Amino acid sequence: MKIAVLKETAAGERRVAATPETVKKLAALGAEVAVEAGAGVGADIPDAEFEAAGAKVALRSEVLAGAGLVLAIQGPEPEGLPKGALLAASLNPYQAKDRLQAYAAAGVDAFALEFVPRITRAQSMDMLSSQANLAGYKAVIDAAEAYGRAFPMMMTAAGTVPAARVFVMGVGVAGLQAIATAKRLGAIVSATDVRLATKEQILSLGGKPIFVEDEETKAAETAGGYAKEMSDAYKAKQAALISETIAKQDVVITTALIPGRPAPRLVTAEQIATMRPGSVIVDMSVVQGGNVEGSKADERVVTPNGVTILGFSNYPSRMASTASSLFARNLLNFVQTFWDRETKTLKLPEDDEIVKGALVVKGGAIIHPALQG
Ligand code: NAI
Repeated sequence: MKIAVLKETAAGERRVAATPETVKKLAALGAEVAVEAGAGVGADIPDAEFEAAGAKVALRSEVLAGAGLVLAIQGPEPEGLPKGALLAASLNPYQAKDRLQAYAAAGVDAFALEFVPRITRAQSMDMLSSQANLAGYKAVIDAAEAYGRAFPMMMTAAGTVPAARVFVMGVGVAGLQAIATAKRLGAIVSATDVRLATKEQILSLGGKPIFVEDEETKAAETAGGYAKEMSDAYKAKQAALISETIAKQDVVITTALIPGRPAPRLVTAEQIATMRPGSVIVDMSVVQGGNVEGSKADERVVTPNGVTILGFSNYPSRMASTASSLFARNLLNFVQTFWDRETKTLKLPEDDEIVKGALVVKGGAIIHPALQG
């Protein structure tokens, strides 16, 4: 089977879906690997390294010709994708349904990596985790860079500098890494979530949990481990707690998301107005609508009271080299899991839990139940 690796075309996307390491392993399975020229440039991988690993480097049309599997970071334009091929990428299925429809019309099957179920067997293909982890780290680094003071407490001959107070809102994969990174930098860290299970996790990383605890929080988590949309009564309690907490913070990192819905609005302009000048907020959910009032994708907003709000639309791309190596391994693990060694092709059994969870387009139609209607 021929596997095509495309150069990303989305604005600001620097990652690439394969690395020399994964190309070697794909070739070892008996696959023919073709990489679009220049695909790795944004992630510091020259074409020559792909070639040395066993890939053929060529123009897009040549790479796609005869490919049975197309690997990408983001869903590519459907034009030129070979009929009958399978595309595996992060397809943003809830927001980009039109694109999925176009794949269906083009006769291309599509596997959405963000729908891979979070079961033990699929952990190694979980690109949401691999990318969110890096994003959580980078968000803290961005905040530290924008913050005009030090993160750690410093005891100097001239006097003592207090440690920065960092508040993390949303303790999923990105939030946990943000807590760990801020702790490593010496900050005093607190964090909040709607899922009670995160309380222990915050404590284990040396953070202080700040929680609304009522009957609703006990059921805030879905069977899949995700958060639910909360009631208005809960939201009012949460807003009061945030108002109380936020005025004392130097840095706020927000990561709160609810799958398939706009990001919950957690921080209002009124609350931001109580923060000290020089404080920094990083809204990691800016693309999904934002947790923070006034955040703008890829813009540095400074409020009238001197609070800087950052929001980047593509965090993993800001660490393109590391993010690519992990994303490429997620894809390699997917291929290795479903590779038929006899025929040297990818076979996706319809009754497999991972296939059922993430195969969104098949045989000319969107087949995933969550995307109907
Ligand atoms: P996510 O990106 O969907 O959301 C980020 C965080 O925001 C979550 O912790 C969520 O509870 C929180 N949140 C949502 N609404 C909120 C609100 N109104 N206020 C405060 N916080 C709010 O989450 P992510 O990172 O994808 O993790 C989701 C779950 O998946 C977690 O339970 C995680 O432990 C689990 N997981 C399981 C894996 C596995 O393979 N078993 C791998 C990775 C994650």
